[in-house]
Order: sequence, then structure tokens, then C-alpha cells
Amino acid sequence: MTTSESLPPTAAPGRRTVVAAVGAAGLAVALTACGSSDDDSASSGSNTQAGANTTGGTTGDTGASASTGSGGGTALAKTADIPEGGGKIFKDQAVVVTQPASGTFKAFSTKCPHAGCAVSSIANGAIVCPCHGSQFSVEDGSVKKGPATTGLTAEKVTVSGDSITLS
Ligand code: FES
Repeated sequence: MTTSESLPPTAAPGRRTVVAAVGAAGLAVALTACGSSDDDSASSGSNTQAGANTTGGTTGDTGASASTGSGGGTALAKTADIPEGGGKIFKDQAVVVTQPASGTFKAFSTKCPHAGCAVSSIANGAIVCPCHGSQFSVEDGSVKKGPATTGLTAEKVTVSGDSITLS
């Protein structure tokens, strides 16, 4: 095969190529000569992208983790009262305490974010609202089943020894 015969010679650029190169160089010179005031407008225009990076912290509140230690608060229960993988509802305190994993305790408001009913039961890893059937995860209170669109509000509990208190 002799493919090199069909290619144009590269060592000697055609007249059109030379004219284009000179034209581009001339344009660059003209742009550079226009003064520095154009640079200011160009840089300020790029500021509109500065706010694009929004990292909202609204996904599944996980701030319900219990911390060990002493502190004042309302005594709720013994750790043994909270079934692992489930939880217990404390109506008087309007709080539900869960134990998604052994030794890990979480607490949430019993108030359903859908229409304000109090959640009434816990089954199969879900906190259940009786009014319209919303279900929430015992792990983080997030919605497992609507109509609720937001999870339960996290509450803070403290575990001291085998006692759980509402902070
Ligand atoms: Fe709980 Fe509607 S109030 S599901």
C-alpha cells in the first residue's frame, strides 16, 4: 500500500493556512489591546456559579444516637426493655426509643410528620402510624412508607449503664 501518496505535503503549508494563522494572530493582538476593563466583567460574570454546590443536610436525620454518660433528664426505661431490631413507644413522653442494633439506641418524636397523629406500634423494623399507615425506620426515623414525606423528628436520649433517659 502507498497511502502517503494521497496525503498533502505537510512541510509546505498552503496559502490559505498561512492567511488564517496571520488572521488569528492579528485578532489576538486586537483583543489584547482592548484594555483591561474587559477582564473585570469577564471575571465577575463567573461568580454566578459559586452557589451551585449546595449540600443540604436534610437526608435522614441521624442525630438521634444515644450517648453514654451521666446527665439530667427524664428516666425512660432500662436498656433491656427495648427490643433489639425494634423499639418501644413512651406515650407520656411522646417519644419512641429503638434499638436498631445491639447496644445502639435511637429516639424519635412519636408525632407523625404527615398529619400529627402519634405513632402507635412497631413491627418488622418499622414504626407505624395508625392514621394513614405511614411507616418509619427504627434505624433513623426515615420514611419507609408514605403518605408521610419526611421522617420522624430525632430526640436525644442518654444511656447510662442500663438506664435510658430522655435528655
Ligand atoms: Fe401519620 Fe397520616 S398522620 S400517616
